[in-house]
Amino acid sequence: MAYDFSGYPRGWFIVGFSDEYGPGTVRKLRYFGQDLICYRGESGRILIRDGHCPHLGAHLGAGGDVVGDDIICPFHRWRFAADGPCVEIPYCDQPIPKRAALKTWESRELNGMIYLWYHPEGDGPDFDTPILPIHESAQWLPWKHSMLEIKTHSKEIIENVVDRAHFSPIHNTHIDVFENAFEAERAIQFNKGTAYPRGGGVDHFELTATYYGPGYQISEMKGFLHSILVNAHTMIDEQTLHLRFGVSLQAGEDPAKLEQYAQAYIDNLTTGFHEDIQIWENKTYREHPLLCASDGPIMKLRKWYAQFYA
Ligand code: FES
Ligand SMILES: [Fe+2]
Repeated sequence: MAYDFSGYPRGWFIVGFSDEYGPGTVRKLRYFGQDLICYRGESGRILIRDGHCPHLGAHLGAGGDVVGDDIICPFHRWRFAADGPCVEIPYCDQPIPKRAALKTWESRELNGMIYLWYHPEGDGPDFDTPILPIHESAQWLPWKHSMLEIKTHSKEIIENVVDRAHFSPIHNTHIDVFENAFEAERAIQFNKGTAYPRGGGVDHFELTATYYGPGYQISEMKGFLHSILVNAHTMIDEQTLHLRFGVSLQAGEDPAKLEQYAQAYIDNLTTGFHEDIQIWENKTYREHPLLCASDGPIMKLRKWYAQFYA
């Protein structure tokens, strides 16, 4: 069975980490083939809006000012309220044109991350984003995170969920137990094995990695350390995506040591992703792959992924 994965799937997508936005920070975003802005209002609220002003098209992320939770366009200073409409044109004493508004995008800030809801037809969310144990908990350290831009499609990254056979050749990881489950919007991988990090050492690990929709995966990893990992990919266009990843460790007695571990973790993840990237950026997509009896349930996974497409 071949699926049509053209366009973009619906779902919650991570477009940043909370610590990237102080009060009044405005950033340009480009996702799903569109220019957007994300900013933090003075109340602390995160807002995601269309990037270009409806007036003459300036980008609000290139010099726009946040006042309260409103944003002011840098070009002619039209002011847009947090809920979208233009509320002030400083050089015009006539009524503001009725259609003058910035399109609003549904977002959430949760677990130290910023989530954007995308739906190709503009419908609202039909599934939820879970609250993680790390959410506002002093027991867990803030995310240590990083981002890569990759020339590939989300469907390639998703296939890692079931691709048991690539762990040894690509990641030098020995797998003892590998299981998958698909439940509504969740795709789960349970994986137990031994990793031989490139920097040396041996790590016996056990992890449960869960995709909550097509955009991000949360892993709980028990090994040398207890950690929560996030792996999120958000499509810039149909050929390119941002891969964000982060690690949160349980707080302990020696913060300097943990900081060091977290950094080593991120370095290891980065190395791991580079191992995959080298494949992703050069492979072709086989609609009808030639599979053997020991491959994971790749076609089941594709069926799961297809539910997010219109
Ligand atoms: S382009 Fe934004 S105010 Fe004119
Ligand atoms: Fe991989």
